[in-house]
Amino acid sequence: MHSPINGLTFCIHTFGCQMNKHDSERIAGMLEALGALMVETVEESDIVVFMTCCVREAADTRLYGQVASMKNIPLRAESPLSKRVIAVGGCIGQRDGEKLTEALPHLDVVFGTHNLGSLPRLLEAAIEGQGKQVEVLAASSEFPTELPTSREHSWAAWLPITIGCNNFCSYCIVPYVRGREKSRSIEDIVAEAERYVASGVKEITLLGQNVNSYGRDLYGKPRFADILDAVDQTGIERLRFATSHPKDLTDEVIEKFGSLRSLMPALHLPVQSGSNAILAAMNRRYSRDHYLRLISKIRDVQPDIALSTDIIVGFPGETAKDFEDTYRLVEEVGYHQVFTFIYSKREGTPAAQIEDPTPREVIQERFDRLVDLVQKRAFELNQPDVGSVVPILVEGSSKRDERMIAGKSPKNQTVHALAPQGVTPSELAGTFVNVKIDDAKTWYLSGHVLGANERL
Ligand code: SAH
Ligand code: SF4
Ligand code: F3S
Repeated sequence: MHSPINGLTFCIHTFGCQMNKHDSERIAGMLEALGALMVETVEESDIVVFMTCCVREAADTRLYGQVASMKNIPLRAESPLSKRVIAVGGCIGQRDGEKLTEALPHLDVVFGTHNLGSLPRLLEAAIEGQGKQVEVLAASSEFPTELPTSREHSWAAWLPITIGCNNFCSYCIVPYVRGREKSRSIEDIVAEAERYVASGVKEITLLGQNVNSYGRDLYGKPRFADILDAVDQTGIERLRFATSHPKDLTDEVIEKFGSLRSLMPALHLPVQSGSNAILAAMNRRYSRDHYLRLISKIRDVQPDIALSTDIIVGFPGETAKDFEDTYRLVEEVGYHQVFTFIYSKREGTPAAQIEDPTPREVIQERFDRLVDLVQKRAFELNQPDVGSVVPILVEGSSKRDERMIAGKSPKNQTVHALAPQGVTPSELAGTFVNVKIDDAKTWYLSGHVLGANERL
């Protein structure tokens, strides 16, 4: 069947978390299946899709400006269309629906997080002159697994195992825009993982807002630990997962860091705050002690694990003492990476009702102090790797120098090394090389690739 999308060019601007990035890959897959060609720039594109995020205010306000600026960019001369088609999806699409087309009159299509699969139909209708297309569903009835994907890298894949979230942390908009948690069947997960392995994928990252609660909606078995076993058995070389909620991280899952061949020694375990009072106000449902106990169990099983976390500074009512608790926790745990955020009020969430007397400058000062500590600890934690030999999964060339390869260590550290004579970094992308680490900085390690005869 001929689609008016056939032969058109498109680009996708993706914001927010890996869920959106993965959804964008599905969109690319669907549009390519209809004969469209993905291009890099808006100038070359007949269709522009924005996959949006509203987890914090900054991303939210930026979108409106970006969509508005599309008006000034002329359509390519060879385009069969008379006007560029602009679509907004993702979490702002889900939250704002119709309101978006009122604020942005030149927008053609709005879709939400529950109906990715409708995008081709909506685009077709808009192209055929049927007017603005807005379709946002309250919830999805099933897991959208049947959609094709076009992955960013041929050797790495994100594999969603749950969608949505049931946790309702008091600051967070995600449960409102992604809906209730739904688990995908283990058969589906394993089948997708097996397809990836067969097609040469080296690394799979299992995705969910809280992978640890996998299977709650399926009753009884399987649970997340079973998924880890099953995906490991597909023969994948590297397995990772994100994100974990500390309240649901079980001993069974922790033990997998000691027993599973493919599970990489890196864990992202968002703590959000080190203060019990703030954790309670955030509705996180664990204490500082519980979190620290988890960390010590994890290190018992795998002493050389790289931990990362998310922290919100300036949650309403956070006192100087609360912040010190967070600061001390970051000092004590020792994270390879911390994603720090200043609290952003999200209308419709319970925390938006809490008054906050803390001046903005005080919050900024706390934030800056925390960022300094995070960098200091990251630098310190990378030092022991100097002198070791690390297997790197090459991603391509480093941004700074075309001759340098950039890749990831098992602990998910970025590693740079000069490409061996006669090969370019891009030719090595998706392969493993052994790198002897010569130097460690805050956010990356550097070293040299070991040749076949080189002694360690
Ligand atoms: N489901 C994941 C994270 C989703 S959002 C989890 O629970 O770990 C990613 C991060 O954004 C959160 O971990 C939190 O640190 C931050 N975040 C969420 N809502 C926020 C808000 N209103 N203001 C500032 N940061 C926020
Ligand atoms: Fe948001 Fe909490 Fe769900 Fe994460 S677990 S998505 S922070 S509500
Ligand atoms: Fe943002 Fe939606 Fe992810 S709000 S963080 S893109 S789930």
